[in-house]
Amino acid sequence: RRAFAVLTSGGDSQGMNAAVRAIVRVALYNYCDAYAIYEGYVGLVNGGSFIKKMGWGDVSGILSQGGTVIGTARCAEFRDYPGRLKAALNLLERGINNLIVIGGDGSLTGADLFKREWPQYLKDLLQQKAISEELAQRLSYINIVGLVGSIDNDLCGTDNTIGADTALKRIVESIDSISSTAASHQRSFVLEVMGRNCGYLALMAAIASGADWTFIPEQPHGDDWRVAMCDELKRNRERGRRMSLVIMAEGARDRSGTPITAEQVKQAIDSTLHHDTRITVLGHVQRGGAPTVYDRVLGTVCGARAVQYLLHNAGQVRPVVMGVSGSKYITIPLMESIALTQSVPVAIKSKEFARAVELRGPG
Ligand code: F6P
Repeated sequence: RRAFAVLTSGGDSQGMNAAVRAIVRVALYNYCDAYAIYEGYVGLVNGGSFIKKMGWGDVSGILSQGGTVIGTARCAEFRDYPGRLKAALNLLERGINNLIVIGGDGSLTGADLFKREWPQYLKDLLQQKAISEELAQRLSYINIVGLVGSIDNDLCGTDNTIGADTALKRIVESIDSISSTAASHQRSFVLEVMGRNCGYLALMAAIASGADWTFIPEQPHGDDWRVAMCDELKRNRERGRRMSLVIMAEGARDRSGTPITAEQVKQAIDSTLHHDTRITVLGHVQRGGAPTVYDRVLGTVCGARAVQYLLHNAGQVRPVVMGVSGSKYITIPLMESIALTQSVPVAIKSKEFARAVELRGPG
């Protein structure tokens, strides 16, 4: 009987629960065992009650909930070999060698390393007599599938990550609320949204709300950003606009790499245009609340496809990520997409990459 385990790791995102539910239920539907690993890699390293065998009813009622009901955490122990060795033993003891990780690029990189080191874990555990020869042979490899759970939409190779659509909805709703009060008082607002390295949320929110100006990490401004921004805000006011809106990603920076802060933006508007300017930092509101239809469907389909991928491809397969390109669900190689993510501005390359590397079978 095959056994599948799922964990959520890194920052939570809306739609993770839909994915967990689909993974558990598609595994059970196919007469496999399904395990949920609670609190991300912390649970994987610590085992015991952190790793729970799941029944059909254990994932009832979670589809519409934000966050992740199986918890997530940052785990220092998993960064070191002894921690990962403990994690491997926890899976081996339960007969699990199919692991589905829902998280961002850091969590997925950890999963890839875990797979590469698996033969060494077996050797060490055999030497310690912690496992039998028979078990080591039966579970001689581990298969990994990644699902990208991140509100930032920051992984190359997939058009959308699970949670980004909901976060965007939350942001645009907030902007709509701010706009009416801003226009009433003819104020300017500087709105900071999440996105340390990726400006997707800021850029899409700016387009969807008709903002006057935006700062994103992918397109750093030159020294003259204050002049250029204030000119634009002034021009728009002269056209009859009663408010001004600047949306900035938290990772906004200038061309020298120096962060541009909301306070600096406010000061520039105050001193040049003498507007009554306010700052709103949306923070974790963006990561909360019920997932949109899109994120529920994305989480569900990617979760189901992850289990199906492992069921249909017998034996060892290289780590992949379940993603989406246009209206098509795709399977892409995990490490290539992470390497590209870390080397190029996401907004520019993701679509081309998806087309170039799409897998048609096991890698
Ligand atoms: O990676 C998702 C994200 O929401 C980023 O946009 C943000 O910078 C970060 O997580 C915040 O993380 P934390 O909740 O750990 O402060």
